[in-house]
Amino acid sequence: MKERSRLIVALDVDTFDEARRIIDELGDIVDIFKVGSHLFVAHGPSVIRGLQAKGKKIFLDLKFHDIPNTVAGAVRSAVSLRLFMLTVHAQGGLEMLQAASKAAKEQAVALDVPRPLIIGVTVLTSQARDADTNDIVMQRALLAKQAGLDGVVASVEEAALVRGRLGQGFIIVTPGIRPAGTDAGDQKRAATPAAAMKSGSDFLVVGRPIVQDKDPRAAALRILKELSSHPP
Ligand code: C5P
Repeated sequence: MKERSRLIVALDVDTFDEARRIIDELGDIVDIFKVGSHLFVAHGPSVIRGLQAKGKKIFLDLKFHDIPNTVAGAVRSAVSLRLFMLTVHAQGGLEMLQAASKAAKEQAVALDVPRPLIIGVTVLTSQARDADTNDIVMQRALLAKQAGLDGVVASVEEAALVRGRLGQGFIIVTPGIRPAGTDAGDQKRAATPAAAMKSGSDFLVVGRPIVQDKDPRAAALRILKELSSHPP
């Protein structure tokens, strides 16, 4: 996979205008943008349509975590947005994850649209590592696989473990990416882009190190350069 198809930029900004400015600056170097609760609560599906009109793929990161029936409904609604990827929280348990997977498959067929990749969040990268972190991440990754999900979100620190146990083909998405010298903010299980590449992550999610840089394009180019000089 080319480096630029591995980089996902998290559009955690207040306004559609701000998002648009960043997308335009990154235009030809980033293909996938993550829309999370920050921007989605402010602007809803219109922000997704706006990005798609610019030819971008969308990762909707709302981390659905509710009773199976509600999550299935949310996933059905999300499928109609023609997303590339969406998240559910793997803490929700097997029945909830199965409901999400089934809803995505059925709704994609019913609407005749591509099915988004369904990714389970394991343990937030803002939570500090403790003695149980690896076990919980692995337990939730196994649950996600059993439920028919396409992959999980895990920090760089657990990515190699998940890859070793679940093999190739199970997607690993890694946030908490911090190029050397950038502020970790609230991220506790953070790592550099090069370390993420080595750990076996398929997709790297980067927010603040790009969107809060005074020159987002230069920041993204630095990350892409680091990725290309550290092939997986
Ligand atoms: O700004 P930063 O690079 O820390 O952004 C990381 C993004 O990844 C945020 O949008 C956050 O919501 C998301 N995320 C995360 N940890 C997870 C799942 C998603 O940081 N486990």
